[in-house]
Amino acid sequence: MMPAAERVALVTGASRGIGRGIALALGGHGWVVGVNYRGNAAAAQDTVAAIQAAGGAAIALQADIAASADRQQMLDQVMMEYGRIDLLVNNAGMGPRQRVDLLEMSEASYDEVMAVNLKGPLFLTQAVARLMIDLLGAGAIRGPKIVNIGSISAYTSSPNRGEYCLSKAGMGMLTRLFADRLAEHGINVYEVRPGIVATDMTSAVTGKYDQLISDGVTPIRRWGQPDDVARAVLAIAEDYLPFSTGEIINVDGGFHLHRL
Ligand SMILES: NC(=O)c1ccc[n+]([C@@H]2O[C@H](COP(=O)([O-])OP(=O)(O)OC[C@H]3O[C@@H](n4cnc5c(N)ncnc54)[C@H](OP(=O)(O)O)[C@@H]3O)[C@@H](O)[C@H]2O)c1
Repeated sequence: MMPAAERVALVTGASRGIGRGIALALGGHGWVVGVNYRGNAAAAQDTVAAIQAAGGAAIALQADIAASADRQQMLDQVMMEYGRIDLLVNNAGMGPRQRVDLLEMSEASYDEVMAVNLKGPLFLTQAVARLMIDLLGAGAIRGPKIVNIGSISAYTSSPNRGEYCLSKAGMGMLTRLFADRLAEHGINVYEVRPGIVATDMTSAVTGKYDQLISDGVTPIRRWGQPDDVARAVLAIAEDYLPFSTGEIINVDGGFHLHRL
């Protein structure tokens, strides 16, 4: 393992919520962190400042993950700044702008959610994997990893946000495909699958989830926090799962158990 201070992580959607939690955890463990965001520069700067205040290093990287040119420019910036990338965390994601019944779902909403949650991560992972393979060949990095942030929506039907569920189901296969393809290069790929986590994404449905949680929808009866997800990512980043790839780490309070 390289000395911690040299390792570089790119975390998409790290200005707020789960991505911010992941960036803070990595920054606190000596990782240099690329803090990607789409539009909220102030929040991204806040994440960077928090990492720096704790003695770490980070830069804010504006890029819309759905846009090909943005993804390339972001990677160019990381390579220009640090010359390496050891960890990619595909975290950026969105729900549909409006929760609409499946029978009314629009093609525009489907296209937008799929572009951000699946197509963007797919082609970002492809580009980063190529870079990692080159860096490995040059002996510049060791044991690089890719982590995808999925969701319990990969297998849980919510007919009022079908496009989101489809995108997260696709993330499951994205993880398996790259885990299979990249194993020969020594690049492990994981999916961390959060349950109900307190962020801006869930803030509009707090009451509904408060009720579900107190009724026992999750065996562990509390909201998940960004740090719960961040700890799982950190365990992967720090190489505590070296003989696992394509693995799903559920961080959901036991939601996936299907109890009777
Ligand atoms: N919260 C949950 O309960 C939950 C559960 C399971 C899975 N997840 C998944 O966890 C991930 C993070 O969710 P969250 O709850 O932390 O969301 P959030 O609070 O809404 O934050 C979303 C983050 O993603 C960024 N982002 C959105 N679209 C982007 C794009 N096109 N390009 C680049 N960045 C973009 C945002 O940047 P700006 O600040 O610039 O807008 C922000 O940093 C998502 O993939 C989500 O599907 C969340």
